[in-house]
Amino acid sequence: MRNKLLQQCEASYKRYEKSVRDVSPRNGCMLKAENFCFCCMCELYSVDVIIETGVFFGASTEMFARYFEGSETEIHAIDISWPDGLQEKLQSYKNIKETYCADGTQKILELITKFKDKKIAVFIDGPKGEQQLSLAKKIINSVEFVALHDVGREYCMYTAEPQVEVETHDNFVEWDRSMFITTEDWFANKYSHMNIEQLRWLQKKDTRWEKRNDGYDESLWNPILDKITPNGFGLGIAMKAT
Ligand SMILES: C[S@@+](CC[C@H](N)C(=O)[O-])C[C@H]1O[C@@H](n2cnc3c(N)ncnc32)[C@H](O)[C@@H]1O
Repeated sequence: MRNKLLQQCEASYKRYEKSVRDVSPRNGCMLKAENFCFCCMCELYSVDVIIETGVFFGASTEMFARYFEGSETEIHAIDISWPDGLQEKLQSYKNIKETYCADGTQKILELITKFKDKKIAVFIDGPKGEQQLSLAKKIINSVEFVALHDVGREYCMYTAEPQVEVETHDNFVEWDRSMFITTEDWFANKYSHMNIEQLRWLQKKDTRWEKRNDGYDESLWNPILDKITPNGFGLGIAMKAT
C-alpha cells in the first residue's frame, strides 16, 4: 500500500500544489503534506464522500474542496461551533455539500449510515485524544479509511494541547488497524518540505501571508513547533481489515 500511495503522490503532486496554492494558513490548520496524503489516499481508494469532523477556521476543508474541485467526490464538514460566516463561505464551493453544527462523534455515525452504499473517508481533527481514537475504532469497518490528526510521536510528546498526550500516539500505533503516520521517514523524507511555509506562518515567522493576530503564545508554542518542523503534527491512517 505504501508504494501505491507514493505512486499516487507522485502522480498528483503538481495538481495538488497548484490547486491549494492560495489557501492561506490559519490557526490550528493541518499541514499541506498531511492534507496531500489524505487527498492521495482518497484518490487511491476512489472515495466518493469525505466526512471531516473538526473544521475550526476551515483551512483543511478548503484544501480538500480545491483539490477535488470538478470531481465527483463530495465533502461533508462538521464542527461543534463555527465562526460567523464560515459555513456560508465553505458552501460556496460546489463540492462542499453540507456543513453541520453538531458533535462529530454522533453526526458521523448518522452520515455513514446515510452514505452506506458509497466509499467514505473520514478525517478526525476534533475531538482529539481518547475520544478521537474511540470514534475511529467505532467506524473503521464502515469506511475505506480513517485519518486522525495530531498523532505524530514528537507532537504528542511535546504539545501543550489539552487531550493530546504521548499515549495518543502510543494508542494509535498499537491499534491493529493503524497503517502509518505521515511523520514516518518513507513519507516525510519526500513530502515534509510542503509543511514548512505553514509552520513558519504558525510561528509568526512567515512573510508571504498576513501575519497571524489571534493572541498566539510564541514563547509557549514556537519551541513545540520547532520540534515538529518539518515533519508536522502527524496524520495517522487506519484502514478496515480486508
Ligand atoms: C484543530 S481544530 C481543526 C482544524 C482544521 N481541521 C484545519 O486543519 O484547519 C479542531 C476543531 O475541532 C472541533 N471539535 C472538537 N470536538 C469536536 C466534536 N466532538 N465534534 C465536532 N467538532 C469538534 C473544535 O471546535 C475545533 O474547531
